[in-house]
Amino acid sequence: MIIATLKEILPGENRVALTPPSVKDLIKAGLTVRIESGSGIESNFADKDYEDAGATITNASDIYQNADIIVKVATPTLDEIDQMKSGSIFTSFFQTTKELEAVKAMTDKKVTGFSMHLIPRTTLAQKMDALSSQANIAGYKAVLIGADHIGVYMPLLMTAAGTIPPAKVLILGAGVAGLQAIATAKRLGAQVEAFDVRPEVKEQVESLGAKFVEVEASEDDGVGEGGYAKETSDDYKQRQQTLITEKIAKADLVITTALIPGRPAPILIPTPMVDGMKPGSAIMDLAAENGGNCEKTEPGKIVNYNGVTIDGTTNFPGTMPIHASQLYSKNVVSFMTYMIKEGELNLDMEDEIISGSMFTHEGAVTHEPTQQKLNA
Ligand code: NAI
Repeated sequence: MIIATLKEILPGENRVALTPPSVKDLIKAGLTVRIESGSGIESNFADKDYEDAGATITNASDIYQNADIIVKVATPTLDEIDQMKSGSIFTSFFQTTKELEAVKAMTDKKVTGFSMHLIPRTTLAQKMDALSSQANIAGYKAVLIGADHIGVYMPLLMTAAGTIPPAKVLILGAGVAGLQAIATAKRLGAQVEAFDVRPEVKEQVESLGAKFVEVEASEDDGVGEGGYAKETSDDYKQRQQTLITEKIAKADLVITTALIPGRPAPILIPTPMVDGMKPGSAIMDLAAENGGNCEKTEPGKIVNYNGVTIDGTTNFPGTMPIHASQLYSKNVVSFMTYMIKEGELNLDMEDEIISGSMFTHEGAVTHEPTQQKLNA
């Protein structure tokens, strides 16, 4: 059975789905590995490193014609899907409820599709959880880049020329990315506050040394299935806005990470709130890919609005490609070797990780929410 990876073609996508060490793991699992020449260049892995690990370096058309499994980072383009072999398996990040045309093309081609977005958040699947490994990087990089956008120091400094107070950092959404952003901003010496609709994260926020901003809530506000967030009531939104308006006016750096699975990102920072911010401050909107948490965010762009920098970069993990690829490829290989033992593929549809992350198979859409979107 041949598994392969291709060079990413989206601008700014510097990651690669397989690294040389992960090639060795796949060979151990009984697979033959092919890599498109130059796939690892942006992540600093040379063709020679892959060859030394046991892979064959080849071109894209050989891979499309012969690979049984293709693994990538980004959603494939329609042109890429068009070249895939019927009956083959394709795995990458894939927002299946958003990228419907690509899903449709995969069913037409009878390609079995798995999305790393759909891997269930269970203990057994933790090592395959690419959303978490990449969100961690996004949270970390957002602080470093954000610190560069603002015109002030992050730590408290007492110098002969005067005392500099620590920067005030506000984090909205304290999931995986938000918690890493808190930890990174604290390490740089900033004064950090964080807010999330899920009250249980209070303890995690405080254990990292940040202050939890609390909005009074009724019992079920904001807490959805499986510990994820859900849409909040209008009354809650009003109280949240009043409190955040107050906090945001004093902040030097705001990092937003709030997402609700399968929905557009909630707007937490409407324009009047940005109007109240200090010139020289910045917003890093990590929800930009899903529309953004700030009304003024332009996905994929860094804009200046009345002196406030609003950074809508959509792929922070791609700005740290070596570790991002290393972790992503570990996640992908853990998933592949979960399904493949001694070179034999076992698509056990009773298995919740396999059936949960599959979205197309034998010409049909197997992921219910995606099918519903297609019907609509
Ligand atoms: P996410 O990326 O879907 O959302 C980020 C954060 O935004 C969440 O903490 C969410 O509560 C928050 N949020 C949503 N709407 C908001 C609003 N209106 N205002 C403020 N905050 C809002 O979530 P992520 O980071 O991927 O994971 C969330 C949680 O899932 C984790 O903290 C963890 O508890 C759990 N998880 C479990 C795993 C496992 O069991 N294997 C693996 C990863 C995460």
